[in-house]
Amino acid sequence: MIIAVDGPTASGKGTIAKALGSHFGLPVLDTGLLYRAVGYQTQLNHGDADKAADALAACAFPDTLLDDPALRYETTGGLASRVSVHPEVRAALFQRQVDFANQPGGAILDGRDIGTVIAPHADAKLFVTASADERARRRHAELLSRGVEVGFDVVLADIRARDARDTGRADAPLVRAADALLLDTSMMDRDAAVAAAIAFVDQQRERER
Ligand code: C5P
Repeated sequence: MIIAVDGPTASGKGTIAKALGSHFGLPVLDTGLLYRAVGYQTQLNHGDADKAADALAACAFPDTLLDDPALRYETTGGLASRVSVHPEVRAALFQRQVDFANQPGGAILDGRDIGTVIAPHADAKLFVTASADERARRRHAELLSRGVEVGFDVVLADIRARDARDTGRADAPLVRAADALLLDTSMMDRDAAVAAAIAFVDQQRERER
């Protein structure tokens, strides 16, 4: 069984993907981490994230980089969103994601283009979203809890900028697949969102039987 979980930044898609992974006993790939690694490696190379050649060169990042806590920084998320607009970068990361999706037994991938580009044949697709205000509120609280002093308005502006870049790019833009369940978590807590996701996957599995 392949499960695709897409959605904008701070929508809760990562939390939902991990919870589905534990519930169904499937491996999970956070594909955003791959783009973050490319963005961060571009910086380590003193390259320019807006230049396709620099970003492409950074796709040869060492696997150990995926464990670097710096990948979780807000600034790295911004770099990831810049390198991810280059079709060359998306092509370089394509096969790795497809192979993960098609491994025996199935897999869960979370990202922006899983249900549309990486695994259009997925058995269950979810598009997890929430209002920009609510996502900024969650991200702001998370940053404050980690001791990162930042204003709410800065976080909201960053989320809006990332949304615009992710939905506006020409190659594999963030868009809900026609057959994806729209899960708006604006008014839901974590447990309610996870329960809705599990119920949907169960329903899809029943339908395939
Ligand atoms: O999900 P996360 O915030 O870690 O992703 C960082 C950035 O990587 C996103 O803003 C997006 O631009 C890019 N990305 C992408 N395609 C994916 C996953 C992430 O373009 N499948």
